[in-house]
Amino acid sequence: MKKLIAGVVLGLGLSMTAYGAGDPEAGEANAGVCAGCHGQNGAAPVMGVYPKIAGLGENYQFQQLRAIRDGNREVPEMTGLLNNMSDQDLRDLAAYFDQTEMPVGQASPDGLDQGRSLYKGGNLASGVAACAACHSPEGKGNEPAAYPHLGGQNAEYVIKALNDYRSGERDGAPQSQIMIDIASKLSDAEIEAVANYISGLN
Ligand code: HEC
Ligand code: HEC
Repeated sequence: MKKLIAGVVLGLGLSMTAYGAGDPEAGEANAGVCAGCHGQNGAAPVMGVYPKIAGLGENYQFQQLRAIRDGNREVPEMTGLLNNMSDQDLRDLAAYFDQTEMPVGQASPDGLDQGRSLYKGGNLASGVAACAACHSPEGKGNEPAAYPHLGGQNAEYVIKALNDYRSGERDGAPQSQIMIDIASKLSDAEIEAVANYISGLN
């Protein structure tokens, strides 16, 4: 029944309102292979440059999984992995990984003030909006708007993500343009500082 309702809502193109439509138990059946890279429960990636996907946000994660499956967001490591999965399978996976919190890391004291200042207040001179406005002051994201949870994310991955937006390489999800505009105004030093701050944010 739940599946039916989700299907109808998606059919109307109102996927944003299908909040909570994923079934975590069904998602678990497909989640085993993900641990090989994203770690147990998606919380401990095997490389710093891989993202934590635990607690990322269900709507956001669903959007990314669909973009990856359809080749709109290129993740070579995940090639073919999602090919046989329906939108509902992807929603279920997103719901499964959203059951647990993203674990927080330890930020380095170097550049922490600069990172905090950019995150909380943006950069007036270059016209960068405060990250907190969308990703929340504690980095929890915004579930209905499908803005991702950032607090605790691996710094190396955040640096890669912001570079990929800035170069325009990561442009394939429905809301990527928002971050392309923001990242295009960030310096290398700002990207490093804010990524470090985010890794310890909660
Ligand atoms: C062989 C390694 C590998 C496997 C297996 C893998 N992933 Fe990934 N995944 C990656 C990498 C690397 C990235 C980051 C790509 C980038 O830098 O943009 C990623 C990105 C993601 C993202 C986007 C995260 C974000 O913060 O935007 C999601 C969601 C995701 N993976 C979910 C999954 C799920 C669910 C599975 C299992 C069905 C899975 N992955 C299996 C390597 C893997
Ligand atoms: C106007 C709202 C908004 C603001 C302001 C904003 N973001 Fe985002 N952010 C988004 C959206 C929407 C996405 C998802 C984009 C996509 O689907 O590719 C995102 C994605 C990201 C990601 C990728 C997360 C992942 O898991 O792959 C990072 C990193 C990020 N933002 C960092 C920042 C930083 C740092 C700032 C401040 C300098 C910032 N954002 C300001 C809306 C915003």
